[in-house]
Amino acid sequence: MPLVAVTYVKGRPGATTTALGLAAVAPAQTRPVVLECDPAGGDLMRRLDLAATPSLVDLAAAARGATTAEAAIVAGRQTAMLGGELVPVVVAPAGGAQTRAALPELTGTGRPVLTTPERLVIADCGRLAPGSVVWPLLRLADVVLVMARARPDELAHLREALGELVDLGTDRLAVLLAAGGLYPVADVAEVLTKHVVEDLARDPGSVSVLGPLPEDRKTAAVLGGDLIAGRRWRRLPLMRAYADVFTDLAPQLSVAPAEPLPKEALG
Ligand SMILES: Nc1ncnc2c1ncn2[C@@H]1O[C@H](COP(=O)(O)OP(=O)(O)O)[C@@H](O)[C@H]1O
Ligand SMILES: [Mg+2]
Repeated sequence: MPLVAVTYVKGRPGATTTALGLAAVAPAQTRPVVLECDPAGGDLMRRLDLAATPSLVDLAAAARGATTAEAAIVAGRQTAMLGGELVPVVVAPAGGAQTRAALPELTGTGRPVLTTPERLVIADCGRLAPGSVVWPLLRLADVVLVMARARPDELAHLREALGELVDLGTDRLAVLLAAGGLYPVADVAEVLTKHVVEDLARDPGSVSVLGPLPEDRKTAAVLGGDLIAGRRWRRLPLMRAYADVFTDLAPQLSVAPAEPLPKEALG
């Protein structure tokens, strides 16, 4: 099973929320697990009222030993309840130092914990800085979702990082427009593609643009642990949008598209 990395260059576009949302819409047979890999430190333990251990530190320790990837994930995993779904998550300590120490353990050669065939791993990589410790993880990822709001400041920062990002490889880089943008997706795609072709001399297919995600405080609050979901939470706009994103990415991930909404939800 594949590895999806969620990251961003500027702002707070909703990467952590998106990592959880994608895991919640992923078909059960993909066995999704969310890994908190933000080098600035984790949020999920507090937000979702999870325990301090096990965490990414335990996952990295297990990965160091001679064990299977699945056993290492089980050693680090807890289960979050999100809108009635049980979503396995590996939390990170709130300070980033332990995450920054653990990441090289997980991405080192001969330790394919993040690319186990048994799991869809969704890694919340936080903000991407030059020289960040998450770059080796991005190089292992099947899909790198870079989130940004379609606004001049965030797009300018994204453009700056694009040269290094497109070098991750064709068909792997997707820009996911977050809620609160100013420009339509087609315009953003045109501007980014022009930059990729004319300034970076790369293939126009190096970057695709998805979204925008809708502004949906209710779903964001459910995924942030602040609200108990109602029975029909999968009908909420942001959950539908995550299902669409998952379906768009499914071919790159070699998995089946998101499960259709249950019949009663379509009502
Ligand atoms: N689509 C959305 N609509 C409304 N609020 C959102 C949305 N996505 C995220 N949020 C909210 O924005 C804030 C930042 O989200 P978070 O996922 O923590 O961002 P990041 O990981 O990029 O810093 C949180 O309060 C979250 O609930
Ligand atoms: Mg975050």
